Amino acid sequence: MEIHGVTKGGMKKIVAVLLFLALCVNGFVLNRRFNTVALSDLASSSSSSATNHTATTTAPTTTTIPLQKDNDGKIVFTCPPPSGSSDSDSDSTNSERDDGFEKDYTSVSREITTNQTEFLATFRTTNYDAWHKSYNTVKNGSTAFKSKYYPKYLQNGSHLYESACGIGLNLFMTLEILQEGGGGGTSGDGTTGITVYGNEYVPESVEKARDVVLAEGVIPSGNQQGTICAGDSTNLGHVPSGAFDLVYTGYVTPSMDLLGIHTDDPEYDDMTEYDEICSSVWRSNSKNETAKEHDWMGNHLWGIMVQKQRDWYGIWVGEMARIAKPGVPVIIEQVSLPYCVEEEDWGGVIKEFWYESARENTYGWDIDPDSIEMMDDTIHKSRYNVFMLKNI
Ligand SMILES: C[S@@+](CC[C@H](N)C(=O)[O-])C[C@H]1O[C@@H](n2cnc3c(N)ncnc32)[C@H](O)[C@@H]1O
Repeated sequence: MEIHGVTKGGMKKIVAVLLFLALCVNGFVLNRRFNTVALSDLASSSSSSATNHTATTTAPTTTTIPLQKDNDGKIVFTCPPPSGSSDSDSDSTNSERDDGFEKDYTSVSREITTNQTEFLATFRTTNYDAWHKSYNTVKNGSTAFKSKYYPKYLQNGSHLYESACGIGLNLFMTLEILQEGGGGGTSGDGTTGITVYGNEYVPESVEKARDVVLAEGVIPSGNQQGTICAGDSTNLGHVPSGAFDLVYTGYVTPSMDLLGIHTDDPEYDDMTEYDEICSSVWRSNSKNETAKEHDWMGNHLWGIMVQKQRDWYGIWVGEMARIAKPGVPVIIEQVSLPYCVEEEDWGGVIKEFWYESARENTYGWDIDPDSIEMMDDTIHKSRYNVFMLKNI
């Protein structure tokens, strides 16, 4: 499995693109009752095939961690016990859903040197996060969005949190862009004095973030490391509410096995069943009535998948919004589109999802729907970045 950089092969791509183009030209697909619905509706919870299914993703139980600071002004909280330990409450998280990713991200993490000097000498030109793109390339592609939305809300003394921070490179990059004045310059007249916090599912990546990438002497000067925990982004119960000046995620790793087909094989690397469902959805666009009737099952399953993915994003972002201060940004970078809409990616949600979920407060985000802004991503063309403000 190639993560994030997203390569899934030639023929499949051509077939997918042709089918998707056909879908776009017609603009319509069928739901399970064989009524025509717009593509956007197909990927929305209001689609008739999506409404009556209870998601297996569970929202975290609310805990109240008091907001406390130490003498240096850092926010203080304690990391959860490692999953698998007797104190762990990992059964109440959704971690097992992403075991396939854990394998990939663990190997990404192992490729990063533990030697700080070596890291500083090499990181700008080596592959970033298994994207097959260098740090410099990713930074160039990220600067337009980050410099538009981050500097305004961060100043000396601010607290910045990244959900699913990996080895900490995105935090490092964000600090550099802020330090450079947000515009990609190198004058150093920008913002420093920021404390960075985060969580990451893969313990080895947390170690790299703490001991190498965000360690003193490596982290862009004038900034400091706060608490970085091994933890699941869909359950940040160890983190105090209303604490941070800006909360973001570099990527919501989508829920992959939405129908639980691979529960006995968590490291599965094969999306065949899901590809068949997409083919069925696309075939429904056919003018052939018999073909339509035979495709009701795929459309029904697709409706369930759409709803479950929305719930996954809803809970992940709900935890981000909870730990943000009132009135501050909650930012989701690199959002992928739903799997059957962009089969070359790993699945996600359409843009309307954000407006609808904020308007209806479906997941308790408490986000101002009028604050939502989006910018298409320049690194992965089908992805987009989302900026939202928590209500005051
Ligand atoms: C695309 S990478 C982002 C890496 C990060 N921005 C960096 O600079 O290294 C996605 C990260 O999300 C982590 N992840 C995936 N699902 C997660 C979850 N449920 N909770 C926490 N981290 C998760 C992965 O382990 C991976 O490190």
